[in-house]
Amino acid sequence: MTQKKKKKKPIWKRYKLVLPGKQKAPVQTTGEKRTVVRHRLRLRKEVIYVLLGIVALLCLIFIPRSIQSSNLKKLGYNKEEIKAIREQKLASRLLDNSYYSPYLASCIKDKSVNTDYLNFYAIIKGDRTLSAQDFLLIHRLREKGYTDGQIENMYKSLKFYEMTPLLVFDYQYNEQAYIDDCKNHADNSPNNFTLSGNYYTPYLDTHPVDDESSVEMLVNKSYYLSESYVPANLTGMSNWYAAEGRELAGVAADAFKELCDGGRAVGVTFYTTSAYRSYEQQDALYKSYVQAYGQERTDELSARPGFSEHQTGFTVDVAATNEDDKTDFEQTNAYRWLSMNCMDFGWILRYPEGKKDITGYDFESWHYRYVGKDVARAVYEKNMTFDEFYMLYLKPWSGDDVKPSEAILKATDFRAKAEPEPEETPNS
Ligand code: DAL
Ligand code: ZN
Repeated sequence: MTQKKKKKKPIWKRYKLVLPGKQKAPVQTTGEKRTVVRHRLRLRKEVIYVLLGIVALLCLIFIPRSIQSSNLKKLGYNKEEIKAIREQKLASRLLDNSYYSPYLASCIKDKSVNTDYLNFYAIIKGDRTLSAQDFLLIHRLREKGYTDGQIENMYKSLKFYEMTPLLVFDYQYNEQAYIDDCKNHADNSPNNFTLSGNYYTPYLDTHPVDDESSVEMLVNKSYYLSESYVPANLTGMSNWYAAEGRELAGVAADAFKELCDGGRAVGVTFYTTSAYRSYEQQDALYKSYVQAYGQERTDELSARPGFSEHQTGFTVDVAATNEDDKTDFEQTNAYRWLSMNCMDFGWILRYPEGKKDITGYDFESWHYRYVGKDVARAVYEKNMTFDEFYMLYLKPWSGDDVKPSEAILKATDFRAKAEPEPEETPNS
């Protein structure tokens, strides 16, 4: 008879699972048996502990992760976006603040989001986007005293060119009234900006100019030159360029001659009828206007002493040769040529048409200001008044706490414009 080979029981039948602490002493107490049992129990304890540990770890990792994913999904993010959120470690910030907009989601996905401004990405609507210029503007608005809540409110509805005038205007406690006014002027554009309300009080909050020695200084109804200020190196010009006795600061005199020569080279001739004006001359001029037109109208035409750009020595009023009637200057070839070319010689049209609400002055087709080529070209390209441009790009920052990061400053540095702006918005 062949002896039937006894089938070996599977391991789970051969050993009884005894939970740690529950094992009973073995009935048979041979030394060998005891050794086996002890060995078996020790192994089981370790395995169980390790298994429990792994399960706990998996729970710790995957349960919150899956709760987070489901909450992000509820906010509106899809699978791919959630993956990018995790890679950029943004989940908690997005969830804690309920930040979501399709624009934010797409910027997270393509990793172009600047995480310092998530709150602004989250309120962007439609085809509006954010760039380093916006971040610069946000810092300038904060510097002016606006809270992030107010700025977010503006960014919900306003375009860039509708916000930059706020840097020139008085601080608006009720920013919603300003927003509504902008919305009611839907025909406004970067070329023409008019509002119904009054957002600026001329000559109320006045300060000395930031730097009297800079060709980039801003002089307007808020920033003034001292009574004693006289430009360095006042220089007269021949009657090819100027009416008798007119003078400019040296650098502006040279630049004005170049401008005139540039026009002359293409058959366009003009000269300056008024250039540097001292504080006293401006005082006399302003008073004569007040006599003629009254103060309210005069303030739209002429600056008060100390507040005129003519005192800088960087400013000219021009007339076309053979046509000296200022009011018709905008009809001349000289104006047409100047308005298209003056920036290449470092000059700007200082009081443009359609911007009276920002500059505080009527359109002056004859009044040009020397600011240097980089600034002049940038002011022209950005289609801003110099008042806005200065407050956004040139004004010294009031403190490091309001200043944007170096990356933002670099990306918005118009002087380095030769290099194209990077595709990605810089972080921090
Ligand atoms: N006409 C300009 C504003 C001035 O008086 O300076
Ligand atoms: Zn002028």
